[in-house]
Amino acid sequence: MTRRALLIGIGPGGPDQLTVEAVHALNEVDVFLVADKEAEAGRAGTGDLVALREEICRRHITGDGYRVVTVPDPPRDRAPATDRVYGAEVRDWHAARARAYARAVVEHTRPGNTVGFLVWGDPSLYDSTIRVVEQIRTVGGVDLDYRVIPGVSSVQLLAARHRLVLNRIGGPVTVTTGRRLAADVASGADNLVVMLDGGLACADLDGDAWDLWWGANLGTEHEELVAGRLGEVLDAVRAARERARAARGWVMDTYLLRRAAAD
Ligand SMILES: C[S@@+](CC[C@H](N)C(=O)[O-])C[C@H]1O[C@@H](n2cnc3c(N)ncnc32)[C@H](O)[C@@H]1O
Repeated sequence: MTRRALLIGIGPGGPDQLTVEAVHALNEVDVFLVADKEAEAGRAGTGDLVALREEICRRHITGDGYRVVTVPDPPRDRAPATDRVYGAEVRDWHAARARAYARAVVEHTRPGNTVGFLVWGDPSLYDSTIRVVEQIRTVGGVDLDYRVIPGVSSVQLLAARHRLVLNRIGGPVTVTTGRRLAADVASGADNLVVMLDGGLACADLDGDAWDLWWGANLGTEHEELVAGRLGEVLDAVRAARERARAARGWVMDTYLLRRAAAD
């Protein structure tokens, strides 16, 4: 008999930012598999992220007929690398993660059980869970059928908090990372959502030529928002970033950068 997996988007931080479909899905799960990122050295604050997931389960699951199994995350080299090396490292890491999850699925569930993965934000954006679950089937050889339940992503929440339409009328939006920002701007992108940017890569752009709408720890009670001409608000962003980190022990930020209209 096939095991079933539900990949459930849980929103970017707030325990009430789940869809009704996600709440129904949570209630179908027998065993949640949760990555223990603190097994990875130097990842302070991840205990709070685990606590947020536990709070979501407590708040939205009726009854206590589920278990949570923690799976130590394989170590990952976070040193800077070229895009090609980075891609290969991430693929190796996904395969190692898939093997660890495959072992946990076999050990902690029975055929016919439903396994749950709580996915931060939405599973379609900069998240490896769909790839890893695919590999639990292919690399790990586990008979697993799965379904993806969308969630509110940090990008949607950023737009809502700033009351933004992400695109100019009929125009494109480039969703990118801090690592790729300079290259994307050099190739002409002028309306970009930036994620995964621990180093505030936008600080290297011309501060007079861009407008910024920035948000950190969105959805939590310690969220921070800053907006304005890039060069004028960078100091405020840096200060807000540090406030968010001090409040929770971690900071995740996302921003929209748009080339300013000529005066
Ligand atoms: C690994 S990606 C996961 C994205 C997630 N799947 C989503 O839909 O938002 C992590 C990045 O998402 C963004 N992010 C996630 N949660 C956030 C939050 N609560 N506030 C601001 N940005 C957040 C940050 O850019 C962070 O570096």
